[in-house]
Amino acid sequence: MMTTLIFLAAYFVHFGNAGSPCPPKADMDPWFCINTPSSHQDTYTSVICNRPGCENHLDRVDGVTDHMMLDRVIISDVNTSESLMLPKEWLSVSRVRELEIRDTPLSRCFLCENPLSGQGYYMNKLVVSNCSLSGHLCTNCPKIGKAVYKHDRYEKVYQVNGIDMIGLKGLRTLETLDLSFNKLEEVTNTSFPYDLINLKKLVLSHNVISEISSKAFTMFRALTTLDLSHNQLQVLRRDVFSVPEFTLKVLNVRQNSKITSRVRSEFKNFLKILKQWGKELKDQEKEKETEN
Ligand SMILES: *[C@@H]1O[C@H](CO)[C@@H](O)[C@H](O)[C@H]1NC(C)=O
Ligand SMILES: *[C@@H]1O[C@H](CO)[C@@H](O)[C@H](O)[C@H]1NC(C)=O
Ligand SMILES: *[C@@H]1O[C@H](CO)[C@@H](O)[C@H](O)[C@H]1NC(C)=O
Repeated sequence: MMTTLIFLAAYFVHFGNAGSPCPPKADMDPWFCINTPSSHQDTYTSVICNRPGCENHLDRVDGVTDHMMLDRVIISDVNTSESLMLPKEWLSVSRVRELEIRDTPLSRCFLCENPLSGQGYYMNKLVVSNCSLSGHLCTNCPKIGKAVYKHDRYEKVYQVNGIDMIGLKGLRTLETLDLSFNKLEEVTNTSFPYDLINLKKLVLSHNVISEISSKAFTMFRALTTLDLSHNQLQVLRRDVFSVPEFTLKVLNVRQNSKITSRVRSEFKNFLKILKQWGKELKDQEKEKETEN
């Protein structure tokens, strides 16, 4: 009975067609909140942090009223001297459909303290664009924590080798992930957690990616769009994707200046070939079944 109730509550929050009403202005300052009607829901709730000093009050967006349904949370143009980390279990009371962080320098450990825990069945879109993230993406990044005195209290600061993506773990309803306009260098088969099972669109454009290793994208069983444009790729191996469960429809590899014209023309046939390959593999499996 209890389980059913919890399930129903989750169901209504997730599919309900309204964001929460904005709380009084002073309650979440320096954040501000906007309710707008939209074509497909009564109230669309956006909260925005783009004023000086906002970086020290990121936690004020959560728990203002008991439980807020936020359609869009935006952090943009935050001017910090040191790169920003998202607070520990940041949005634990609120439920967020879309989170966008833009034009704001982030620490490579910005997701280290589980800031998105609790969003597993709500978050649909995550944008982390132009946030000065450099290096390789990893879920098993080596890291060393140390306590430093900051903003009148001790905080744990991590040194990480790589951009830690383990904080995306559990985001089972995430459909769009955009990491464009950073300085990502490498994607490996441990760059993303394995439970982003509904991810449809992955945007890695405008980075400096030169290496994508085997099986790098095999965990995305629902991927339809992959944007790798404006990078430094020379090759893209076919085994970066899973076959035969291949769902990809759009692959953008434009503006990878190091890709030779031969590889470029190979890319043109890439999707077609993979589709045929997928079909062949399936047919072979079927044959094996009938043999047995
Ligand atoms: C942003 O930071 C720079 C240097 O830290 C400073 O000169 C500038 O005034 C800041 N801008 C705002 C809007 O706070
Ligand atoms: C990236 O963000 C910086 C501020 O951090 C801004 O000055 C710059 O114009 C942004 N670049 C793009 C491509 O949006
Ligand atoms: C990931 O790649 C490494 C080599 O780069 C390989 O040893 C490992 O087995 C791969 N893991 C998976 C799950 O494919």
